[in-house]
Amino acid sequence: MQTSEEEFLSPADMKKVIAEEAVSRFIKDDMVVGLGTGSTSYFAIMKIGELVSSGYNLKCVATSLQSEKLARSCGINVVDLDEVSKIDVTIDGADEVDPKMQLIKGLGGALLREKIVAAATVKEVIVVGNDKIVDRLGTKAPLPVEVLPFGHKHTGHALSKFGCDPVLRMAGDTPFITDSGNYIYDCRFDHIEMPYHLEMAINNISGVVENGLFLNTAYEVLVCDRRRNITAMSDRVNKELGGNNIRVL
Ligand code: 5RP
Repeated sequence: MQTSEEEFLSPADMKKVIAEEAVSRFIKDDMVVGLGTGSTSYFAIMKIGELVSSGYNLKCVATSLQSEKLARSCGINVVDLDEVSKIDVTIDGADEVDPKMQLIKGLGGALLREKIVAAATVKEVIVVGNDKIVDRLGTKAPLPVEVLPFGHKHTGHALSKFGCDPVLRMAGDTPFITDSGNYIYDCRFDHIEMPYHLEMAINNISGVVENGLFLNTAYEVLVCDRRRNITAMSDRVNKELGGNNIRVL
């Protein structure tokens, strides 16, 4: 039987389906919840807003000013990260996911706070459409690197020595400025050969604040395809399958 085009989800619909799935699987009453940033996290925040309206008592930590504003507009109680000792679950998007659940994040510009929030989180749940799955990191998305504005051209030049092409992210005629007042260089690679080595080497450059490689961070990655199939990648599944596979639940 042929499947008509109308039966396929659009990229935006995949984001909504997977974000809502993550909220229903992971968010329980009385939790401390991390709110990601981006167009997929948008749907998670809206769904969490519905849970709050239905009576859930949640404390939420936002990974960006944008997500904080959205959350407050939905009646969500947003607290400062330092007001909680840990975050039970964070739901966030990603720009690339490899078969071992290693990630590139930060095209939405929130990588620094996202990484700090992820480090304080027990279960970092990543939600993506299957268009974000890659065999090797760096093949589709550039790697965003947040840098101090001071001497940023020198920092960008130092980044180029890793074999990439760093481009200063712009917002119109002026550099894009992160929530922490920094700039971002988007570094295009053919592919990233040794992500662990690269992560450390980049963060060793003076002027670099943080980079968008999120290694060994995801507790589970939930993936939606255009036919609405939902796939879970998890550490447990990866160990069982030797780190190369995804299991469809
Ligand atoms: C923001 C991020 C986002 O999670 C990532 O860019 C994915 O965004 P989207 O859900 O809009 O595709 O890392 O810094």
